[in-house]
Order: sequence, then C-alpha cells, then structure tokens
Amino acid sequence: MLLQRIDHVGYAVENLEEAIRYHQRLYGAEVVHRERMEPDGVAEALLAIGDSFIQLLEPTRDDSPVARFLERNGGPGVHHVGYGVADVSATLTRLKEQGVRVVDDHPRPGSRGCTVAFLHPKGAMGVLVELVEDPSLADAATAPG
Ligand code: CO
Repeated sequence: MLLQRIDHVGYAVENLEEAIRYHQRLYGAEVVHRERMEPDGVAEALLAIGDSFIQLLEPTRDDSPVARFLERNGGPGVHHVGYGVADVSATLTRLKEQGVRVVDDHPRPGSRGCTVAFLHPKGAMGVLVELVEDPSLADAATAPG
C-alpha cells in the first residue's frame, strides 16, 4: 500500500478563528500548528486527532483555490484529504505512469516542513487528494533508538 496513513482532512472555512473555537467548544480540540502559506493563499490551523490532523484553511486572498471552493460550495466544507506517503516524488511518478491526473507535476513545499503534491479530483474519485511526506516521521523511523 502506497498510502501509510490519513495525515489530515482539509476543511475550507470562511473564518479561521471561528472554526477553531467551534472545534474547541465541540471536541476540546487543540491547535498544534499555525501557518500562513502565501503561495496557496491560505492561513491554516492544525488540530491534532491522535497522529492525524484537521487542517482548517481560510483564504487570504480572493483568487486562492480555497476562496474559489467556498464560492462554489456555498460555504465551508471538506476541501481535500491528505494521505501520508514515504516518498511523494516516487509516489507521484508511479501514479502519473498509471495515467492519474495531477495538479502538481512535481512535489513542492507544504506546511510544517512537509513535501506535498496534489492529485486532480477528476481521476481521483472526485476527491482532491494531497500526498504528504512528513520528514519528522522519516527521521523518527530511521533514527537509532
Ligand atoms: Co492539506
């Protein structure tokens, strides 16, 4: 199996602070990471669920993909699913060889130091899929002790 885990579920939200408070109130969620990713036009907050995350994404500009999703969807919703893989580059190459349509032709930097690549929903069962390689997990796997 190329996919090792569900790394995160990405939610598109209109208001990051409200979305954080909602998850805190309902589930006692804790924010473990915040980051602003200018190339993607989003501000994110990660809420930990065991070894996985809910990734809340608020657009930082009108032309960001998440802003367009909110518009199309008529409000917040599940934007993408992030699958943890050992090697994004190798996984992407293998999927492309099988004719899978991709958003990112090459792996690129994601949040929290991960390397990521998105697959196009057309050809991925209608779901926007993000492949995520987390270097901290690779280090943990190979570190002595
Ligand atoms: Co993501």
